[in-house]
Amino acid sequence: MSLRTTTAYVEDVSPGSGALPPRAWYASSDARSLSLNGNWRFRLSDTADAEDDSFAARGYDAGDWAQVTVPGHWVLQGHGSPVYTNHLYPFPVDPPRVPTENPTGDHLRVFDLPADWPEDGAAVLRFDGVESCARIWLNGTELGEFKGSRLPHEFTVGHLLKTVGNVLAVRVHQWSAGSYLEDQDQWWLPGIFRDVTLLHRPAGSVRDFFVHASYDHLSGTGTLRVDSDVAGRVTVPELGVDVATGEPVTVPVEPWTAETPRLYDGVLATGGERVPLRIGFRTVELSDGLIKVNGRPLLFKGVNRHEWHPRRGRALDLATMREDVLLMKRHNINAVRTSHYPPHPAFLDLCDEYGLWVIDECDLETHGFTEQGWRDNPVDDDRWTPALLDRAARMVERDKNHPSVVIWSLGNEAGTGRGLTAMAEWIHGRDGSRLVHYEGDPNCRDTDVYSRMYARHAEVERIGRGLDGGPHRRRELPFILCEYAHAMGNGPGGLADYQRLFEAHDRLQGGFVWEWIDHGIAHPELGYAYGGDFGEELHDGNFVCDGLLFPDRRPSPGLVEYKKVIEPVTVTADGPAGTVRITNRYDFADLSALAFPWSYEVEGETVDRGTLPVPALAPGESAEVELPAAPAGAPAGEAHWTIRAVLASGTSWAPRDHVVAWGQIPVSARRVPYVAATARPAPGDGVITLGPAVFDARTGALRRIGEAAVTGLRLDVWRATTDNDDGAAWQSDLRYGLLWRKLGLHRMRHRLDAVEVGEDALTVRTRVAPAARELGLSTVYRWTSDADRVRLTVSTVPDGDWSVPLPRLGIRFGLSAADLVQWYGGGPGEAYPDTRAASAVGRWQSTVDDLQTPYVRPQENGARIDVRWAELGGLRIEGDPAFHLTARRWTTEQLDAAAHRSDLVPGDTVWVNLDHGQHGIGSQSCGPAPLPRYHLRAEPAEFSFVFSPSAATGTTATG
Ligand code: GAL
Repeated sequence: MSLRTTTAYVEDVSPGSGALPPRAWYASSDARSLSLNGNWRFRLSDTADAEDDSFAARGYDAGDWAQVTVPGHWVLQGHGSPVYTNHLYPFPVDPPRVPTENPTGDHLRVFDLPADWPEDGAAVLRFDGVESCARIWLNGTELGEFKGSRLPHEFTVGHLLKTVGNVLAVRVHQWSAGSYLEDQDQWWLPGIFRDVTLLHRPAGSVRDFFVHASYDHLSGTGTLRVDSDVAGRVTVPELGVDVATGEPVTVPVEPWTAETPRLYDGVLATGGERVPLRIGFRTVELSDGLIKVNGRPLLFKGVNRHEWHPRRGRALDLATMREDVLLMKRHNINAVRTSHYPPHPAFLDLCDEYGLWVIDECDLETHGFTEQGWRDNPVDDDRWTPALLDRAARMVERDKNHPSVVIWSLGNEAGTGRGLTAMAEWIHGRDGSRLVHYEGDPNCRDTDVYSRMYARHAEVERIGRGLDGGPHRRRELPFILCEYAHAMGNGPGGLADYQRLFEAHDRLQGGFVWEWIDHGIAHPELGYAYGGDFGEELHDGNFVCDGLLFPDRRPSPGLVEYKKVIEPVTVTADGPAGTVRITNRYDFADLSALAFPWSYEVEGETVDRGTLPVPALAPGESAEVELPAAPAGAPAGEAHWTIRAVLASGTSWAPRDHVVAWGQIPVSARRVPYVAATARPAPGDGVITLGPAVFDARTGALRRIGEAAVTGLRLDVWRATTDNDDGAAWQSDLRYGLLWRKLGLHRMRHRLDAVEVGEDALTVRTRVAPAARELGLSTVYRWTSDADRVRLTVSTVPDGDWSVPLPRLGIRFGLSAADLVQWYGGGPGEAYPDTRAASAVGRWQSTVDDLQTPYVRPQENGARIDVRWAELGGLRIEGDPAFHLTARRWTTEQLDAAAHRSDLVPGDTVWVNLDHGQHGIGSQSCGPAPLPRYHLRAEPAEFSFVFSPSAATGTTATG
């Protein structure tokens, strides 16, 4: 007798049995449907076959079963726990076998048909997504089983339905042969995580249909043909179209683009059903080596989107999907790669409606086979090819009617093999109206696009210039970065440098930032949990938190930066004086939807405002627009023009006046503070007084300025390393975080060499150096005063072999009380040398708490750049030159030691860093380190701060 009988299907490479062939998905028609979402009874077993006999055979007695919500993942509902691995399979790699320990969730739902459920016709039961494998019974009859977690499966059930007391039983296994094909970098989350729906299928109802709606940009016409398995009529009232299925019709139309998502409502009516259509006319083609839509090349300003909700995992509701789309549109994002599986189908409806280019990616990744040099990779093993083709077909058939989908992607990180070729051939054959993408094959054998991930700037530039060589086929293809700018923790740095390349070279058609949202799981103690927080023995820590949104969907500084870098209008001052250059960087839209308010600011205060008359420039056009005369009688001081491009009227995705783009043009330079050294240092009673400042006479340490007590002021070179500083384990380049620690920059010692009281200065000489190393920084603090203010000049000279850049260079000190922070300089948000595009010069204010950026794993954050002056804790600080400002209620060491936000406990002191420089951020948690021009080299440096007492102030921020 074989041990593996009833559950053999779990380890079967085939896609399953019993399900209907795939077809187009649509949300509503006039046929009845019944949602089976809601509370289901639930029982968890440790193995696939622990409960086999009792489940189907014993009349489905769910007596003592628990309850779960469907859609949902049982591990997020108190049954078992989630597991996070990047690419390692959390089970032995022995395809297609899976472990005996195979958490298995039996789901039971009893339902009645609504009183008016039609008696005639058939019905199908649809599952939109079940991870990883399901076997289904209705009223005791087994319907079949399937794999392919993020794809729909339907079963014929009409003949089994009863008016009341239908029992639907679904057995879900966490692991199956399908898991080998679903090794995406994400949490393993079993469950029925998308909708379950019963659909009435009246006689003569629509089965599958394919909307072909192309656009001819030369004639301005669209051609529509709807192919349908069941013949019927297609009407589009707005276009006066009324044709039979299969019959083409050409009419003048407005095309669909992501910038102008024009949809036409239509109806497909067969004898038994009326299906609403939302038709977008557009033509995607590869021509002149470029991806073109409606005859024009595209520039993708994209993101990779996993489905994520911090409490519901991948079980997303419509409101959350819409929030994602609105956030993308409001941040100038124009494209989504649905990494790494087809999303909930409703998401694509939203992309059609609001306008986003979509790369729809198949649910396929076999990344874990890289550990064994790709041996036994399912995509190169014919036994698995039917499963791969099934997945390709289920994606294409489900999503083929979405104008937003312009490219099909075979999957992600699955090596190379015959299975991929089979998928690509099938897709090209079935849908010649779109292109095919896959990143993992350097030969681009099956693809229409040369795609890479995390290529560094220099290589991208070579590719842009066509100097990259490679196989002939690849050299002919347009290039995209399907992943770049790894948004893990603080960062990504270097976005603006990539964008400059994309804009300079036609072949570079943009990229998709990795990734949209941190996959942190809401946790009662930790804030957000990441890998390892559920006791997984194999995990990849916080590598799962690498998004532009925090888990609660608050935009991170990385998203704000991205919005600025990809803005569709640029405002520059490269023309004659008194003019500003406005450039339209949309691919399709003119500027008629935008208005251009300006303001004239002196020292960050608005002195005058108005609106700039900007012509409705066509895509790619630019114009020099005359600025008004500088306002008469404006106060003296540093002045800027700020010009914004805002929505002239509300749209479906943002209200009127929403800022799409902006630019700032400096008019006059800042006057650097001058402090005459007129006061004399006055020793007395263990202290030295110099103007408003009091020092310890023995150590030269600053004790107070005016009423503000100051502790521990000294040179600081350490920052709590960011994920990008630390770099990914596999990085072959220097990983600065590790190097800095090895050098001991996190444990610098400060040796006092001299305290010199001079005529007009107090000078403190020190050497700052790490234990165990011979290199150091000779550092001199020189204090002078004009009686009201005190000026500190810090001079440092590195000695020894400093081939390594510094994390930061500046001073830090503690203030006993500080809450409100005001400053004039870069803001409102965080900025570092290579993440500073979105920082605008203005007057800003915040509380100390709000200066913190809540990275899921705490790390250096919150610096404001180009700060001319700041006020906090009773001190006014002016910089010569401008400085970076951070203030927090814990020390850098505490920040560095914290694993979760909950580890950060506010102390009594506010620790302030005033930095002369910071090292760049880069993207080395997966991609390249900061470009050399953002390195903070250890070089002789001198910088000054002017301190004076300030009354606690409270004016409102402007900027
Ligand atoms: C890529 C992969 C993504 C993700 C990313 C790093 O290699 O395609 O799924 O793992 O790296 O976060």
